[in-house]
Amino acid sequence: MTSIDLTGRVALVTGGAQGLGEGMARALAAAGARVMIADINEAGAETAAGLGEGHGFVRLDVTDEAGWEAAVAACVDQLGGLDVLVNNAGVEISALITEVQVDDIRTMLDVNILGTTLGLKHGLRAMRPDGAAGKGGSIINISSVAATIAFPAISVYSGTKSAVDRLTRVAAMESGKLGYGVRVNCIYPGLVPTAMGAGLANDMASLGLYGSAEEAVGAVIELTPSGRLGEVEDMADAVVFLASDAARFINGAGIPVDGGMGM
Ligand SMILES: NC(=O)c1ccc[n+]([C@@H]2O[C@H](COP(=O)([O-])OP(=O)(O)OC[C@H]3O[C@@H](n4cnc5c(N)ncnc54)[C@H](O)[C@@H]3O)[C@@H](O)[C@H]2O)c1
Repeated sequence: MTSIDLTGRVALVTGGAQGLGEGMARALAAAGARVMIADINEAGAETAAGLGEGHGFVRLDVTDEAGWEAAVAACVDQLGGLDVLVNNAGVEISALITEVQVDDIRTMLDVNILGTTLGLKHGLRAMRPDGAAGKGGSIINISSVAATIAFPAISVYSGTKSAVDRLTRVAAMESGKLGYGVRVNCIYPGLVPTAMGAGLANDMASLGLYGSAEEAVGAVIELTPSGRLGEVEDMADAVVFLASDAARFINGAGIPVDGGMGM
C-alpha cells in the first residue's frame, strides 16, 4: 500500500480481471483513481464491481483495434478521461525451442506485442493534446524479468517481453519529441504465483527441467537476492508510483521489480 494520491485521474488496466492486473486495478483505485478494467474475460466485470463505486469494466481483446477504440471511448465517456494506461494483458505458453508450435508463437506475438502496440497507439492518441482525453499522462507497460535473463522453455515469451521493452523506449521518445505530454515506462516483474506464474513453475516440472514445481520455484528464489517470490502488491505499488507525479521525471525507463533476480 502506497500513500500516493491519484484522485481525479482515470486509469485503464488491460488484463485486469485477475492476477497482477487485478492487483494494479485495486491499488490504483485505493490511491483515488477511477479505474476501467479491460479484459477478454468478462469476469472482469465482477472484479471492477469489487473496486466500489465509480469504476467500470469493458470487454477488450487487446489484439482487436476496434475494441481499443471502444475501450478508450468507454473510459472517456463513462469515467471522464484517460490519464493512466497499464498495458498488462499478456500470455505465456511454455515450450522448448525444438518443440514450439506455430499457433502458440502467434498467440504470444499477438497478445504481448500487437496488443501492447495497439494500447500504445490508442493510449497516446487519446492522451495527447488533441486527443479525446487530451491531458497527457502515464503509460506503464508490463514486460518481465524474462526480458533480462535467460530461463529455459520461455524463449518466445522472453522475446515478446524484450519487444515490450523496446516499444516502451521508442514510444517515450516519440511522445516527447511530438509534445504528447505522456511518459511511457515499463516494469519487469519477477515471478509471482498468479495463474500464469504458478503455471510456469508446473510447466518447468512437466518439461523435465526441474524435479517438481516446488524445485523450480526454489531455483528462482535462489537467484533472487531478496530471497522470495514476488507478490501482486509489489507490482501494483510500482505501477501506482509510475502513474503518479512522484515519477514525473522517469520516462522511457524499464524498472526491475524482481527482488534483484535480473541484475
Ligand atoms: N505472474 C508472473 O510471474 C509474471 C512475471 C512477469 C511478467 N508478468 C506479466 O504480467 C502480466 C499479467 O500476468 P498475470 O500473472 O497476472 O497473468 P494471468 O494469466 O493471471 O492474467 C492475465 C490476464 O490477461 C487477460 N488477457 C489475456 N489475453 C488477453 C487479451 N487478448 N485481451 C485482453 N485481456 C487478455 C486474461 O484474461 C487475464 O485476466 C502479463 O503481461 C505477464 O506476462 C507476469
